[in-house]
Amino acid sequence: MPFMAYVNDVLVPLSEARVPVLDRGFLFGDSLFEVMKVHRGRAIHAPEHVARLLDAAGQMRFNDLPGADVLQARIERVIRASELVTGYVYLQLTRGAAPQRSRVSSTRPTVVIFVDDSPGPDPALVENGASVVTVPDDRALFGQFKTTSAMPRIASELTAMDNECYEAIYKHKDGRVFEATAANLFIVKCGRILTPVAGRHVLAGVTRDKVMALARGMGIEVKERHIIYDELLEADEVFLTGSVKIVVGVVSVDGHRIGDGHVGPVTRSLRDAYIGQFLPEQG
Ligand SMILES: Cc1ncc(COP(=O)(O)O)c(C=O)c1O
Repeated sequence: MPFMAYVNDVLVPLSEARVPVLDRGFLFGDSLFEVMKVHRGRAIHAPEHVARLLDAAGQMRFNDLPGADVLQARIERVIRASELVTGYVYLQLTRGAAPQRSRVSSTRPTVVIFVDDSPGPDPALVENGASVVTVPDDRALFGQFKTTSAMPRIASELTAMDNECYEAIYKHKDGRVFEATAANLFIVKCGRILTPVAGRHVLAGVTRDKVMALARGMGIEVKERHIIYDELLEADEVFLTGSVKIVVGVVSVDGHRIGDGHVGPVTRSLRDAYIGQFLPEQG
């Protein structure tokens, strides 16, 4: 069965899916997206992802938004039609094809949904931990949205690649560190978990929320507050969260070893707890 895609309400093989050249997503990156992990044929936390997308689209004044129920039904259908068991589902919403290229005019949004069978991070990376590099945060203050206007993010990904790192962490010139290019950032210090406050510099990650709740349920104190670069370097543990990454330990930042250089016990127990709760092998 070939992988399938929805373009608006039409289901087609992914290789045949097309959007018009005048679509503002193509022309301007006037568009938002979500990525949901697929586990045993189900999109994990789909209602939370769809709600975040529609909320951001409303704030950016997209018109004629489809309902959450419509999007969720299409997500389920495209997974089923593609016979996908493990991987992820990608959902993109653009402002649509405007009659005049140069005006932000009200058009019907374009909705694209397709699947991919990437299983997530390499088990060796999860076991041994990741290296990251910090980069200046030169995104245009849209950290609270998952926009596809991705040139600053791509430049940061290239820096990570050039430094043979798994991810890049955005660092403000005042010393605060925010998040990675596609993951939220946590540190563990003296048994307490800290994560930067969600807002213009930090996406309110779905996994971030779930991991904070799991940690609190395990009796671990969790605080959302600014984190500065020196705290990151001096942390006992550092980890990243994201829908497909789940929880990935960080063992090196800008070449400095974190903790004892191994993925720490809090990171491991949170990853295990998340998998146990949301991605069980059976049940
Ligand atoms: C910039 C950024 N921060 C955080 C995340 C993690 O968000 P979520 O847990 O909702 O996948 C992502 C996901 O791609 C992201 O792009």
